[in-house]
Amino acid sequence: MMDKLNAETKKKIDEIVARHTGKPGPVKLMLHDVQNECGYIPFEAMVKIADACQVSVANVYGVVTFYAQFTTQPKGKHVINVCMGTACYVKGAQKLLETICEATHCKVNETSPDGLFSIDATRCLGACGLAPVAIVDGKVHGNMTNPDDMKQLISAIIASE
Ligand code: FES
Repeated sequence: MMDKLNAETKKKIDEIVARHTGKPGPVKLMLHDVQNECGYIPFEAMVKIADACQVSVANVYGVVTFYAQFTTQPKGKHVINVCMGTACYVKGAQKLLETICEATHCKVNETSPDGLFSIDATRCLGACGLAPVAIVDGKVHGNMTNPDDMKQLISAIIASE
């Protein structure tokens, strides 16, 4: 099924495709720019890229699913990464993740129905000394052992919307 995209997004995608057409290895470059500029890879973008690069849509889709940096769903306005690395796991990352899911009404690796939050369970974020760690909108929050701290943070975000 084709995504229903607004005119602005379509224009962005067309510009990106035009920018890289004819250059070597264009599929990944185009996907990279679409991801950056649209926040995800709409199906329609895969079709346009496949056309421009004369490869099949399945081929482009294969590249999308191979790289974790690409997503096919729009991200929420606020992105929460929860580290599920060993150090964080041992210190209660699972509980932290559950707390976040409950407070945001969002499932793991999905976007909440209201479009406000996305939750990504990730590998070690390189801040094990602060375990368990979550990154909320790019800001690191460490030692999140008390679920109330995270609940408060999320409530504050919701209140500010
Ligand atoms: S395991 Fe979580 S930051 Fe390393």
